[in-house]
Amino acid sequence: MENIFYPNTEKQNHLPADSLQNMSDFECLKEIKLLKNELQHKLALLGHHYQNDDIISFADFTGDSLKLSQQSANLNKEHIVFCGVHFMAETTDILCQPEQKVYLPDLNAGCTMADMAQIDQVESAWKIINQVLENKQKVIPITYINCTADLKAFVGRNDGCICTSSNAEKIISWAFEQGQKLFFFPDQHLGRNTCFDLGIPLDQMVVYNPNKTNGGLTEEQIRDAKVFLWAGHCSVHQGFKIEQIDYFRKHEPETKIIVHPECSFDVFNNADDAGSTAYIINTIQNAPAGSSFAVGTENNLVNRLADSFPHLTVKSLSPFQCLCTTMYRIRPKWLLKTLQDIKIGNNQSPNIIKVDEGVKELALLAINRMLELS
Ligand code: 13P
Ligand code: SF4
Repeated sequence: MENIFYPNTEKQNHLPADSLQNMSDFECLKEIKLLKNELQHKLALLGHHYQNDDIISFADFTGDSLKLSQQSANLNKEHIVFCGVHFMAETTDILCQPEQKVYLPDLNAGCTMADMAQIDQVESAWKIINQVLENKQKVIPITYINCTADLKAFVGRNDGCICTSSNAEKIISWAFEQGQKLFFFPDQHLGRNTCFDLGIPLDQMVVYNPNKTNGGLTEEQIRDAKVFLWAGHCSVHQGFKIEQIDYFRKHEPETKIIVHPECSFDVFNNADDAGSTAYIINTIQNAPAGSSFAVGTENNLVNRLADSFPHLTVKSLSPFQCLCTTMYRIRPKWLLKTLQDIKIGNNQSPNIIKVDEGVKELALLAINRMLELS
């Protein structure tokens, strides 16, 4: 089946050969299977849980962001293809060996949340906050792993750390042992939900909006706040609403609501359970037969869970399509093109992700700090 999310070919930087252009997904999948077998001695394929079934079926390793990062540091294959989004491929390039090559099959597979925080905006916020505080109190910067490599380097340089949705509680607790205040970006929801669970009241958290002067905060607010949350979010997870939980409570009271911590405060706090994609999978696969779940996360994963566990009822919390359209950009055609580049030894493949060496060193410092604490 053709889809409407084929990437913008201009930015993609290369066009598949004519033969590829005209191939159906079905034909591409057959070719991928053959090529993957042929290349298996030198190829590792990583797949995030939000990938389509057709792509995930080729993954040697699947996982949430934490597990895939841990895996990336231990792969012994020359070529690593990341079926996920750009920041994930960058993280793998930071963690793997210099002689290994990391590929992202579609360069347009970004993360809209990661795009909400740019390094110059974060540097400027950092300066403003520290100027107001006159460096009398130590602020620890923590970035969610869903960000560009230069933001990872920023936290490495400023005694901070990276977190994922699996370890946010541990990392934020660590941050409060290192300093008095927390600067958390780019996902305000993961930051707020985790800090609240750690006992920090909402009135001690402020949102820093990079599009407003001084983040939209007064000096007094900056001095009084314990936590600065970046005004970023995931559009997929922000689509889940408290009304959807109310609907299930009223019509299917036996259904357990489980959500990802990127959901808004109301949704997170009214759900029965919450956690990373790996946590959601684990909880559902260990549930007794007959259990029923409404899940607040991306559709590809929810549908796969429903298909994998027919003895359970698993459905999306939302009646609307909660699809991560950037994850969805990894289509069979682009995966096939990437494998063909590997087969012909194309060292100039535009899909190779290479993080600048200076950035890499500092980003690695921050990632390793996270891995040690996890
Ligand atoms: P996980 O680390 O829970 O897989 O989350 C990644 C992500 O991007 C969720 O939107
Ligand atoms: Fe980014 Fe949201 Fe997609 Fe996750 S689901 S990759 S946070 S846009």
